[in-house]
Amino acid sequence: MSDLTLSSRAQSIGDSPTLKINALARALKKEGKPLIHLGGGEPVFPAPEAAVKAIVAKAETRKIKYTPSSGTPELKEAVVKYTLDNYGKKVGPENIIISAGAKQALYNFLLSVVNPGDEVVFPAPYWVSYPEMVKMAGGTPVIVRPSKGLQITASELAAAVTDKTKAILLNSPNNPSGLIFDAPFIEAVVKLAEEKNIFLLMDDIYHKLVFDGKICPNPYDYSVKGQNLVIANGVSKLYGLTGLRIGWAVSENRSLISAMGRMQAQSTSCNCDLSEAAAAAALLGDQACIGDLRSLLEENRNVLLRELEQIPHITVHKPQGTFYSFADFSRYNPDSQALAQYLLEKALVAVVPGKAFGMDGHLRISFCASQDSIVEGVRRIKRALENLSLKED
Ligand SMILES: Cc1ncc(COP(=O)(O)O)c(C=O)c1O
Repeated sequence: MSDLTLSSRAQSIGDSPTLKINALARALKKEGKPLIHLGGGEPVFPAPEAAVKAIVAKAETRKIKYTPSSGTPELKEAVVKYTLDNYGKKVGPENIIISAGAKQALYNFLLSVVNPGDEVVFPAPYWVSYPEMVKMAGGTPVIVRPSKGLQITASELAAAVTDKTKAILLNSPNNPSGLIFDAPFIEAVVKLAEEKNIFLLMDDIYHKLVFDGKICPNPYDYSVKGQNLVIANGVSKLYGLTGLRIGWAVSENRSLISAMGRMQAQSTSCNCDLSEAAAAAALLGDQACIGDLRSLLEENRNVLLRELEQIPHITVHKPQGTFYSFADFSRYNPDSQALAQYLLEKALVAVVPGKAFGMDGHLRISFCASQDSIVEGVRRIKRALENLSLKED
């Protein structure tokens, strides 16, 4: 057979809209345009000193080699400690896989559990990669949309679970809404997954970036069986170490963790040696950086909310965590892609269209930029919107 067409899989998978916005923002900045980037997904904080020192020390050994494919013993031990400290759960290294970001951990999970035609259920708004990753793994994404507001109820989720459901994915606090699913919801979903004997993957990548003294409900508090619960996490958001590409998954289900290890061993072999050393140092080092980041983000959130209040005809939900707000701009334009493009061209402000997260009419505005950028960015958005006529309610 002589044929250069791409696989139907490749043809069915879209670009990451958030990475695309980042690339566009970088290009405009390079051209010298005074762009304000409120579309980003990484804190501006410098890397923790312990992580930097660990990279330098490791590099100076001049031994930068392959590491054990599912993670170094040192980093796994650091994750054992993290899991005990933050979830009160004692796990062993055999319950852990270290991956190239939480993203690869999620993908390894899907590759390990999804058969063709299996359904994976998750709420909208969702992180942009979920539908595409489920499809890449051969599954069918089943999206549950809230009947009101930005959060589904436990019964809406339960109604979407069928005989074909293999897993539920939950991200709390949520990218893009910034909202936390409350304890009764988490309890109901943990119980639902156990009753139906399906997997529940909790994407906890923002679980300590929560405001107003809140804490995220702990799924282990409600888990009886444990075999179907998987927690994904990483150093990208909490420590501002997006560039290390280190995340992990934890589960009492050892055969799942070892299957995920096989997926990884046959695709990327192992993680970056320097990054694993740095991630272990960040996890075991001074944790004050997380509190500092949380306080800064809470202030930024308050600045953003104050500025957004000046824009009429939008609906804003107060983010309880993460560094994103997800406001309804549909009175200005229900087509969020067109509105984001308009704001990029007319106001030189980058935001991410809600369509990418499964809810058109909304815009995701990040508050991980500097406060000056947040103020100036939202003021520019307000001025640009004044030139648009309002759509009927
Ligand atoms: C909800 C969610 N999950 C996972 C990730 C991936 O994180 P990592 O950098 O660890 O791959 C992100 C990054 O934006 C995210 O927002």
